[in-house]
Amino acid sequence: MIEFQHVSKAYTNDIYALRDVSFSIGDGELVFLAGPSGAGKSTVLKMIAGLEKPSSGMVMMNGQSISKLKSGSLPYLRRKLGLILQGQGLLLDRSVLANVMLPMIVVGESMADAETRAYAALERLNIQDKADASPLSLSGGEQQRVAIARAIVNRPQIILADEPTAFLDRENAVIVINALKAFQRSGVTCIISSHDEQFLEQANRVIYLSKGEVTDSWTSAVIPSVSTEAAEAAVALSGATPLTSMAHA
Ligand SMILES: Nc1ncnc2c1ncn2[C@@H]1O[C@H](COP(=O)(O)OP(=O)(O)OP(=O)(O)O)[C@@H](O)[C@H]1O
Ligand SMILES: [Mg+2]
Repeated sequence: MIEFQHVSKAYTNDIYALRDVSFSIGDGELVFLAGPSGAGKSTVLKMIAGLEKPSSGMVMMNGQSISKLKSGSLPYLRRKLGLILQGQGLLLDRSVLANVMLPMIVVGESMADAETRAYAALERLNIQDKADASPLSLSGGEQQRVAIARAIVNRPQIILADEPTAFLDRENAVIVINALKAFQRSGVTCIISSHDEQFLEQANRVIYLSKGEVTDSWTSAVIPSVSTEAAEAAVALSGATPLTSMAHA
């Protein structure tokens, strides 16, 4: 459960990126953050990841304030998260495979395990033939698939994706959204920011931001459809624990 309680954020003294924002997101929800440029969508995602702190109010995860976490606890939070952040591209000085291995190395997995799982993640996104390539030699859609492989390699409980379909053609955008929906079906919470109205229709839940305030929020009666096959593939890929057993973890 993620909760924003009266969260405001001022990057500079008098300009508020978020103003008194409150909402909660339950485990396993697929939530779209919508709203125009500058509305505060990326700021919301960065706060959930512990990359920005609120100026006032609280951001809670499972009843704990994220901003009060000691720096030593942040890696445990990050380990639960798969991050696909806007403008946080791949590292250009190393191979595709090394990029996907990085989140595992950071949390102290062995090189051998990291390599095996990173390669498997690339395989599932059908981009394994680029494992040794430089990210510079990939197309935008290929880079985005690598970024998703990197986000899911640690088997996250929560995926945060900031404009994951920006700069993608329709075909690649559909691949990316279907992959994220399949993760949600397997019990992973997905929070996705998007300008793309077509994808908003497919969300359980939309939180609409405008100038730093939540101006609308709705829950769809329609469960987004995704094939069982795709959901199973996603579970196999992430090793995600279904929600029912996560409660006991
Ligand atoms: N590091 C920063 N320093 C100062 N101001 C910032 C910083 N990051 C964001 N802002 C400001 O905060 C506001 C919200 O930015 P944010 O990036 O959250 O918007 P967004 O909804 O993600 O926009 P977009 O759709 O363009 O990505 C904007 O006015 C932006 O200029
Ligand atoms: Mg943004």
